[in-house]
Amino acid sequence: MDKIWQIDRAIRTYYQSQDVVSPELVEAILYSIDSGGKRIRPRILLDLLDGFGLELTKAHFDVAAALEMIHTGSLIHDDLPAMDNDDYRRGRLTNHKKFDEATAILAADSLFLDASGLIAEADLDNDIKIRLIQLLSRLSGTFGMVGGQMLDMKGEGQSLTLEQVQLIHANKTGALLVFPFIAAGHISKQSDRVIADLSTAGQLIGLAFQVRDDILDVTADFESLGKTPNKDLEAAKSTYPALLGLGKSYEVLENSLNQAVAIFQKMEEETVFKADGMMTIIERLRLHA
Ligand code: IPE
Ligand code: IPE
Ligand code: MG
Ligand code: MG
Ligand code: MG
Repeated sequence: MDKIWQIDRAIRTYYQSQDVVSPELVEAILYSIDSGGKRIRPRILLDLLDGFGLELTKAHFDVAAALEMIHTGSLIHDDLPAMDNDDYRRGRLTNHKKFDEATAILAADSLFLDASGLIAEADLDNDIKIRLIQLLSRLSGTFGMVGGQMLDMKGEGQSLTLEQVQLIHANKTGALLVFPFIAAGHISKQSDRVIADLSTAGQLIGLAFQVRDDILDVTADFESLGKTPNKDLEAAKSTYPALLGLGKSYEVLENSLNQAVAIFQKMEEETVFKADGMMTIIERLRLHA
């Protein structure tokens, strides 16, 4: 069965409960979940588990679903008028445009808070679940994504250094992309050394991913993005293209992906890991100037 379909089913099943307090809230949550999205974070987790030879179980899909829930919540908040003020996301109206601001704020709150509940209820050993919840909290909250979003908002209209932009990218986007790498290492019980390599690969792909998003903001159109282009310039955000120009930004993207490829090639030589799935994901992230 298709992995994306199973990730979506895990999220839907979580919200198909007799205990739902407000069906309107669940409708708003599922509106944003169902509007598509590349599902790259959960797919990385599942492809890595596959690569380490694990038979995928419902519990693995639950962890993948929890990660996608936090990501979707982060997009709902990111689009709010008080943040990036966007009207379109994933090819349709943003949550606050479709419903209203209060609903969008609460739908994202729910997604953030429900994610750890879903992991806690998954059929995995307790010690692994505690690690996963701790890691997801670290990487998505004050010490990760939300921290990075705060720097991003405060950086608008400022002329930041490349180091400062790197820090923003590593946190607002990189942190949630690191989660599936370390999580896969823990779930498949890899050595500390392999987990450290996975984490480095995650950081490289996380940086590449936001640099790619910054490049696409200035080069792609609404149809391919599903969101309004040229928003970063309008909000006077410090991005890679703004600081380095497009040419150098493509180079950073390419180099980061190449370094990640090298890590997985080495892992394939030294461990049981099969890199095909991961390599396909990495190759799809390349952009050509
Ligand atoms: C968009 O993330 C926001 C960034 C972190 C750059 P994605 O590009 O993964 O968005 P979806 O999930 O496919 O819509
Ligand atoms: C998004 O960065 C980061 C998070 C949602 C955490 P952007 O603001 O660049 O993402 P888009 O371009 O709106 O998707
Ligand atoms: Mg933003
Ligand atoms: Mg945005
Ligand atoms: Mg962007």
